Amino acid sequence: MRKTLRVLASRTLLTASLLFLATSPLQAAPAQAPANKATTTHPPGAAIASAHALATDAGMEMIRQGGNAFDAAVAVSAMLSVVEPISSGVGGGGFFLLHDAKSGKDVFVDARETAPESATPQAYLTPNGELDNDRATNGPWSAGIPGLPAALVHVSGKYGRLPLKTALAPAIRVAREGFAVYPRLERGYASRREVMERYRGTREVFLADGTPPKAGEVLRQPDLARTLELLGEKGFDGFYKGEVAKKLLAAVKEEGGRWRAEELSGYRVKEREPLHFKYRDWSITTAPPPSSGGVAIAQMLQMLSGWDLKSLDEAQRTHLIAESMRRAFRDRTIYLGDPDFVKMPLARLTSADYAAGQRAGIHPSKATPSDLLPGQPAPLEDDETTHFSILDAEGNRVSTTQTVNLLYGSGLVAPGTGVLLNDEMDDFALRPGTPNAFGVMGFEANAPAPGKRMLSSMTPSFIESKDELAILGAPGGSRIITEVLIGILAYDDGLTAQQVAAKPRIHHQWMPDVISAEPDALSPETVKALEAMGHKVNDGERTWGNLQTVSWDKRANTLEGGTDPRNPVGKADVLVK
Ligand code: DON
Repeated sequence: MRKTLRVLASRTLLTASLLFLATSPLQAAPAQAPANKATTTHPPGAAIASAHALATDAGMEMIRQGGNAFDAAVAVSAMLSVVEPISSGVGGGGFFLLHDAKSGKDVFVDARETAPESATPQAYLTPNGELDNDRATNGPWSAGIPGLPAALVHVSGKYGRLPLKTALAPAIRVAREGFAVYPRLERGYASRREVMERYRGTREVFLADGTPPKAGEVLRQPDLARTLELLGEKGFDGFYKGEVAKKLLAAVKEEGGRWRAEELSGYRVKEREPLHFKYRDWSITTAPPPSSGGVAIAQMLQMLSGWDLKSLDEAQRTHLIAESMRRAFRDRTIYLGDPDFVKMPLARLTSADYAAGQRAGIHPSKATPSDLLPGQPAPLEDDETTHFSILDAEGNRVSTTQTVNLLYGSGLVAPGTGVLLNDEMDDFALRPGTPNAFGVMGFEANAPAPGKRMLSSMTPSFIESKDELAILGAPGGSRIITEVLIGILAYDDGLTAQQVAAKPRIHHQWMPDVISAEPDALSPETVKALEAMGHKVNDGERTWGNLQTVSWDKRANTLEGGTDPRNPVGKADVLVK
């Protein structure tokens, strides 16, 4: 397979006109720019990596039509709404980290869901005061007011070049004509079946022929096609007011929830200043609150910058990385929430001095027990959500992570809309100190309140040095943060985009006090050495994540995409001018 790709890649060198470089779902070959066009100021073409080949193709379709990275992002996102309903969609939300090449500015478009007024903390408690997990993760009470449709309108209108309608066209076509169900959708449905089949609207989409979706079958979503069409025709009002909004409100009411029309019509995306900091030779641009990811990445990398990780053996290196993860997750739990509602000591948390203080508390060869710090044990997670990365020939960049939260979100499709609502309310600390589905907990800073955005781990990021630029991010709940950390460290080690996406992962989130390791992430000797330092290691626990990344080597002026081999339907692609 790799051989074929190399041949294709080298052919691009010989062809002068606009070229399409086909890459396998598993591996993206680097593409060379013709030597006489080489420049270090502009990439030689466009690169896209996403979790589904149809989505990557939809993005490239926009580039070929003269669109920029932002038009491509709208097309990719809309297509993922159709073909990856298990992960993201117009019933959910997300974050878009953008770099506008013309102005040189970075902006973070926050399209996180907001809490409806009905979502008081009491609404999520059982009569004996426990967290009502069913309400928190299934059906109408679990859903926040969707943000993604507003983001598509905003990103297209403010940054794109093509009409919104054009960017939505591929998704509308596939929603109407259908796409082939793949094993992950079938498995996800099986695990959420009981919830999905509670709701009339969901049954209409997923049980259209009377049986659950099966790999290879064609899934058609004509109502979703119509909803996307209305969004294209009427913009914001096409979703948040009128016919679609009425159906969303009716569905939530029919299933026992309470949303007000003004909560939909009043939804707004927010543009925020991204977090910027330095790690070795890299300038890092990443997600600010209401994501916890950027703050944690800044904390961890600044703690780690006190060591020369490359010179350490695997056990030492893993120990230090796990200790930095533990400390960053502790702070996440205590301090972080929606910046419009809570005051956070961000300057302190992200400062080099604070990191130095935390670093000083890390013993070189002994684990710090997490329960030296307040907390409770917590269960493990499942993983969905979606990330994609785009770079265009003008130098525009998009790094975006989007989600409906757990597999197929709340499981509730509003009848007649095709819109599968999220279950993002579970990302709030609905009951202080009680872990959510990802085993992370929170307190006052992340308590629900009307209009408030729930704390997220989604961490779309750019990293740039004099010689290289990479765009990356991933799904995986709380593990997103550590996936991105490991991705950055892997780029720093000189790995290629595809190697970065494939790199085995470890994770520590303070509570539970354990290092989770993918199969093959750690050698048996390392596991032993870590245990001797006092770490509990869950070796070979499972695989997780779905990292999608693109990179530009400015010296050679080459582009590369990396798609996570854990997800066989992803695709990274490069289109050289
Ligand atoms: O925003 C967050 O942090 C979560 N809702 C992301 C969910 C996710 O990644 C699901 N996959 N494990």
